[in-house]
Amino acid sequence: MKNLLKLLDLTKEEIIEILNLADQLKYEVKNGIEHKLLKGKTLGMIFQKSSTRTRVSFETGMYQLGGNALFLSNRDLQIGRGEPVQDTARVLSRYIDGIMIRTFEQKEVEDLAKYGSIPVINGLTDFCHPCQVLADLMTIREFKGRFDGLKMCYIGDGNNMANSLIVGGLKVGMEVSVACPDDYRPDKSVLDFAKEYGDKFKITNAPLEAAKGADVVFTDVWTSMGQEEETAKRKIAFDGYQVNDELMAVTNDECMVQHCLPAHRGEEITEEVFEAHADEIFEEAENRLHAQKAVMVLCMKGSSEEE
Ligand code: CP
Ligand code: NVA
Repeated sequence: MKNLLKLLDLTKEEIIEILNLADQLKYEVKNGIEHKLLKGKTLGMIFQKSSTRTRVSFETGMYQLGGNALFLSNRDLQIGRGEPVQDTARVLSRYIDGIMIRTFEQKEVEDLAKYGSIPVINGLTDFCHPCQVLADLMTIREFKGRFDGLKMCYIGDGNNMANSLIVGGLKVGMEVSVACPDDYRPDKSVLDFAKEYGDKFKITNAPLEAAKGADVVFTDVWTSMGQEEETAKRKIAFDGYQVNDELMAVTNDECMVQHCLPAHRGEEITEEVFEAHADEIFEEAENRLHAQKAVMVLCMKGSSEEE
């Protein structure tokens, strides 16, 4: 695997390889077994949006792998003053061994990979959040022990999380159902992809219908980063798209709840449901670290072996 730009680019086998390595690295780090698999390597982390989990888990992960991470904020880079991504890619490729980028347009991430010669990892765009969904899949497998026969459901905005969950969930073999308002559906390319899965994918504007018989329920904020001006309008549009006790009552017994965080209690999820499922949600947050370490090893180790 050269890059992680979006889950649409990966095969089921590649996703499972990442999850297996993530499980192994989690076991090792918890048992004090060192794994300096990226010794001497440097990851540049470009952030054009805020972050708690992505920044800290990539930086810590790189340290645990024996490498080094550079936090490169938009405010400090020339990219923030208009230097083209094509040039940034070619310059950074001469200094460092990999780039993690969180930005707005998916094209910017694809261009970094196209013009640079080092691995690029997508740390969230408006289109997708592949690292998060790899951690989510890891958590589901950890709690449920399998993907086959499980129904995953997503309630809320057809945003970056919805796009990646649909692709990731279907690729590993789960049934996926989505409930979102008609004006906030997932990306057309993702819906086209999902069509290939026939009955395994369903989309509706009725949350209870989507949640019926679910084994894992996902939600995400109604207003994503960059959409702050639409907050009031979105609060009206998403009224009723909440993960609450009424919704959980129609799911299967032992249904999990996942949230990528940050969460807005009282909006997309109630305090009660969030706290009842806090163990699963914070394991999910922890698994960002392990899943991303696996991604970095698989993308960046190859380049060191060729040297
Ligand atoms: N879930 C997630 O990506 O969190 P951050 O925005 O804090 O990185
Ligand atoms: N959909 C959210 C996810 C944050 C991790 C956003 O893009 O802001």
